[in-house]
Amino acid sequence: MLKGKRILLGIAGGIAAYKAAMLARLLVRAGADVRVAMTEAATRLVTPVTFQALSNQPVWSDLWDQRVPDAMGHIELSRDRELIVVAPASADFMAKVAHGLADDLLSTLCVARRCPLMLAPAMNVEMWENAATQRNLGVLRDDGVLIEGPVAGDQACGETGYGRMLEPAQIAAGIEAFFAPKRLAGKRVLVTAGPTEEPIDPVRVLTNASSGKMGYAVARAAQEAGAEVTLVSGPVSLATPAGVARIDVRTAQEMFEAVKKRAPSSDVFISVAAVADYKAKNPSTQKIKKANGRPVTLELEENPDILAYVAGMKNGPFCVGFAAESEKLDQHAKEKRATKNLPLLAANLVQDALGADTNSIVLYDDRGEHPLGTGAKLELARKLVEHVAGMLPQKK
Ligand code: CTP
Repeated sequence: MLKGKRILLGIAGGIAAYKAAMLARLLVRAGADVRVAMTEAATRLVTPVTFQALSNQPVWSDLWDQRVPDAMGHIELSRDRELIVVAPASADFMAKVAHGLADDLLSTLCVARRCPLMLAPAMNVEMWENAATQRNLGVLRDDGVLIEGPVAGDQACGETGYGRMLEPAQIAAGIEAFFAPKRLAGKRVLVTAGPTEEPIDPVRVLTNASSGKMGYAVARAAQEAGAEVTLVSGPVSLATPAGVARIDVRTAQEMFEAVKKRAPSSDVFISVAAVADYKAKNPSTQKIKKANGRPVTLELEENPDILAYVAGMKNGPFCVGFAAESEKLDQHAKEKRATKNLPLLAANLVQDALGADTNSIVLYDDRGEHPLGTGAKLELARKLVEHVAGMLPQKK
């Protein structure tokens, strides 16, 4: 997939710079034409010679480098590139790009670029959570910059939390997805994600424990595959994947309305949301008071089954269901696929999936079962999308 792809690998000053050596190696081994540009800080952490040896090319770090014949290095070095990947991207580097600053070679190459830019952030958890970094992240996303990671985990500084750079193989997978043939080009994909919230009274709700991460990963993977993606999302605290149109809903009924409106013009419907099966029959308009020791009864009524409705539509989209089970995965998955009449169902155990960045998925279709294995939700989402693309009718 990466054979001959012209990539500029940028390395900013973060301790994860040592992992960039492995990334360079992976890209070169996959056949990519890799040029490396480092910030001055990065050269203090890993020597340029390492990258020169790995990329078989001179390494650039100085805006005033006299090796570039016309002294236009800041433009020339990225001109023929198809993608710039900065890994690690430090908090400082993200701030620079977000504000269009160009005070060294790498930031100048980013500002002068014609090709897309991908950043793999890496920093201490406090730096990642800092309001300015989060603000910059929002600006970068709005500018169409592709963001890979970070993930939560142990950090070099001894702390634990978000800010850890993705592993080199995961960044390489993101780069591959960028260059992959757009197998869903021209397709409209509708995805539901997250939980729904059913009010009991003005302050209380019935909901499902769902972070929305799997659904958001599916939306992103479908977008990467070239689809026009609409994401109908319950209340979650996740950023909208770049290039995806998001519609926020709260209740199952609202999700149903949003889906009903868009399903007829969609080619694929992927139902990842953890829809609340029940809602309060008569939600109170005022806050319900404590019953002083007496038992309280809440009458519930069933919500519409959104997926079953879409799967039953005449000329409806190709439907993919998710089954989150706590036991007997195989049996429940097969039953659910049959009852809802689905061509494809993705099954996972809640113990593996809830709130985590990783998951384990098995696909079920007419041909049988297809274990996707265990991995990052985004990796699994990419495999799912690939499988879906393979099942869609091919144009003659
Ligand atoms: N689903 C839906 N609307 C509902 C309930 C579920 O669209 N009201 C979809 C989910 O998005 C998922 C699939 O149906 O793709 C299976 O959801 P799940 O909650 O696992 O199954 P249920 O049909 O609710 O069955 P049960 O709760 O008995 O396991």
